[in-house]
Amino acid sequence: MIVIVIGSGAREHALCRLINKSKLCEKIFCLPGNYGISKIAECINLSSSEQIIKKCKEINPDLVVIGPEKFLDEGLADKLRKESINVFGPNKEAAKLESSKDYMKLFCNEFKIPTAYSKTFDNFNDSINFLENKKGKIVVKYDGLAAGKGVFVCENIEDARLACRKIFVDKIFSDQNKIIIEEYIEGKELSYFVLVDNKSYEVIGSAQDYKRIGDNDTGPNTGGMGTLSPAPILDSELENKIITKIVEPTVKGIHKKSLVFNGVIFLGIIVDNLTSEPKLLEYNTRFGDPEIQSISMRLKSDFLVTAHSVSTNKLSYANIKFYDNQKAICLVLATKGYPNSYPKGTVIRNLEKFKNDESFFIFHAATVKENNQITTNGGRVLSLVAINEDYEGCRNKVYKIADEIDWKEKYFRLDIGLID
Ligand code: GLY
Repeated sequence: MIVIVIGSGAREHALCRLINKSKLCEKIFCLPGNYGISKIAECINLSSSEQIIKKCKEINPDLVVIGPEKFLDEGLADKLRKESINVFGPNKEAAKLESSKDYMKLFCNEFKIPTAYSKTFDNFNDSINFLENKKGKIVVKYDGLAAGKGVFVCENIEDARLACRKIFVDKIFSDQNKIIIEEYIEGKELSYFVLVDNKSYEVIGSAQDYKRIGDNDTGPNTGGMGTLSPAPILDSELENKIITKIVEPTVKGIHKKSLVFNGVIFLGIIVDNLTSEPKLLEYNTRFGDPEIQSISMRLKSDFLVTAHSVSTNKLSYANIKFYDNQKAICLVLATKGYPNSYPKGTVIRNLEKFKNDESFFIFHAATVKENNQITTNGGRVLSLVAINEDYEGCRNKVYKIADEIDWKEKYFRLDIGLID
């Protein structure tokens, strides 16, 4: 099969690696890709939906896999499907489960999916009036996509007012403004992934994401600084609850509303400390980054067969299997300064010396090769993933390599796999 993967991060590198392992894979294109991806796929530097559609029509692939949410929100999947191209990734309307928090809450309400109590506001004054008689921690969420920056977990009401001001008055995201104000839930979080087509669903793993930049979960939120897979808190009792209370009503809702989904739904779940019950914090309509980096290394079955079966509504034929008793840890190496300002063009000197194999892999997110040197062009730059029978073995491997990588500007958390 000829496959096109859309995106340029470590998530897309992980997807390309999985596809490349398949016996059915003839050729992979990645638009735009990055230096690491270019070792297994032809990378073409195109990144607008229009350019991508033109190239896809030219190549006429057997499958297009869309990585980032931005393209789903732009309706790239709809447009490719109109050209009779098989796509892994939901249409625009279905992608609203991620791209509109208000839509997500209405969906949860309609299909009785447990989630945090919330109220939606479309103007500053009403949001401020609502906060008037509230107390304690509270969450303010921008309704639209915000590259992981749209959720404000506020320590107090004053911070919540500031968050509302930033969104409505300073318009830090866009002119089109809506927010939801949500109760704060204390508990442990996990990411849970489910493939969906027009008839069925299949679970494709879980992970724990470390979202904050600093050790002990301090400092600002990031796209994710590391993951463990499977999520350590997921036992069979919790998984049964997640399936019956969240996954099944979600899939039922998708089918009842006739949403063209054909992709992966990523459930951001919190297990409420007070009740031990799982609640849905958010939907994402694509694989998580860095979740898929660690999940993908544990996957034994052919991902290309699975992704193609999702895109053609034959998911029930996919036979998803993981290596027995294998855990994975992903450690993200970022440029010092991220998620605030950071330099670009910094040099990583000895990257080629580290060999990738079935138990260890370095996924690239923001690398380029110029003048015979590997340089950086982003915040999160590399994802180091190891698999082992226990998390400790994974930790030893990823931290050993992280220390050996000769890159002056590297930054990584020291506690991935140590705290939960
Ligand atoms: N790691 C969280 C995300 O991909 O949104």
